[in-house]
Amino acid sequence: MGGARLAGEVRVTGAKNSVLKLMAASLLAEGLTVLHEVPDILDVEYMAELLRRLGCDVVRDTDGRSVSIAVPAVPLHKADYDLVRRLRASINVLGPLLARCGEADVALPGGDNIGSRGLDMHVAGLEKLGATVRSEHGFLIATRDKRLHGASVWLDFPSVGATENLLMAAVLADGVTVIDNAAREPEIVDICAMLTAMGATIDGVGTSTLEIHGVDSLSPVTHTTVPDRLVAGTWAVAAAMTRGDVTIRNARADHLDIALDKLVSSGSVVDVLDDGFRVRNHDRPRAVDIVTLPYPGFPTDLQPQFIALNSIARGAAMVTENLFEARFRFVNEMVRLGADVRTDGHHALVRGKESLSGAPVEAADIRAGAGLVLAGLVAEGVTTVYEPHHVDRGYEGFIGDLGTLGADVTRIEVNHLT
Ligand code: UD1
Repeated sequence: MGGARLAGEVRVTGAKNSVLKLMAASLLAEGLTVLHEVPDILDVEYMAELLRRLGCDVVRDTDGRSVSIAVPAVPLHKADYDLVRRLRASINVLGPLLARCGEADVALPGGDNIGSRGLDMHVAGLEKLGATVRSEHGFLIATRDKRLHGASVWLDFPSVGATENLLMAAVLADGVTVIDNAAREPEIVDICAMLTAMGATIDGVGTSTLEIHGVDSLSPVTHTTVPDRLVAGTWAVAAAMTRGDVTIRNARADHLDIALDKLVSSGSVVDVLDDGFRVRNHDRPRAVDIVTLPYPGFPTDLQPQFIALNSIARGAAMVTENLFEARFRFVNEMVRLGADVRTDGHHALVRGKESLSGAPVEAADIRAGAGLVLAGLVAEGVTTVYEPHHVDRGYEGFIGDLGTLGADVTRIEVNHLT
């Protein structure tokens, strides 16, 4: 039900896009890895199940925020389609399994339906390290005759997933690997911190050139996941759109520089606190142009939320999507809410309107779902977001937190046959 002003505090947990890779990285060391600040979301469940099928014992601790992973001396090396298809991040077991077991058979992944999402850079990079990779019956099969060896790898594009896979393969390779044009996301810095604690040597962390000195073996560690900048950013936009006042705890403003700067340009006040930040807005937002780029550029995973903001802003904005071509599919759903958005290739022109009008809409991926919920918060009347399981994949306790902040929102069961 639209119209509420969000006010109060929310606490963000660890980043989905980091913890899934940290769970994969646990495969690199025999023994007990403990991860803290693990969000209680579907994707973590899927990854836990995948690790179990590889022979690990995965338990969520009684505190609810930690996960323990006991990794056997020799993990199994086959990741089947029924789980892999559910999340893209399962491709990140490829590098560690190859390094540890000498072979990795990973079904071609699924995950969000947001574009073609190739794997060419993963494959080319692993081949440079000495692997043989082939695609067969829906599986990517990577093998090595002897230990992987260090190499110079130049990525065509700073792919997050490829950088992570290559990092996890290179830490157990023989010699030095240099990854050029590497991704620089905070989640990459997080996995580098964990790998370093496990005994790896990685230079250039947080820059576009990573130099990895391979070691013979790694040890399991306890690691706290970096806070989820995308969840924090979603709350920030929600505060701005509802002319609210929300304090977001366990959040890193320095991981959201551009997004928060855009909110300031749109009229919000942002105060940086010791453990988070506060976003206040008293007026209708001003439209802000967005261009998505690899970090430290504007995150593609906040693009739908900013389209939602621009749709009720004063003025018009150009939103340019450079990472995932299909991310604009969600614009059709925004139009159902009365938004004035026109796309042309990877540009969307959003002309702000005084109000949106509640309607049934469908979430096609995590961030589109979040964007539609934000739009529903400001639309007149009731907005029903179908397929909310997409949102559950990335946001822990979203409905509960929205309610605590004052939103009128309920989860309903829908019988699709009536
Ligand atoms: C990760 C995030 C996702 C985020 C994205 C970009 C996870 C689980 N997901 O996805 O939320 O939106 O980073 O910040 O962490 N590409 C290729 N070939 C490759 C690899 C990638 O063509 O071998 C292309 C993709 O199709 C896409 C672009 O590169 O267009 C970016 O992909 P990448 O950075 O790899 O994103 P993901 O790791 O899939």
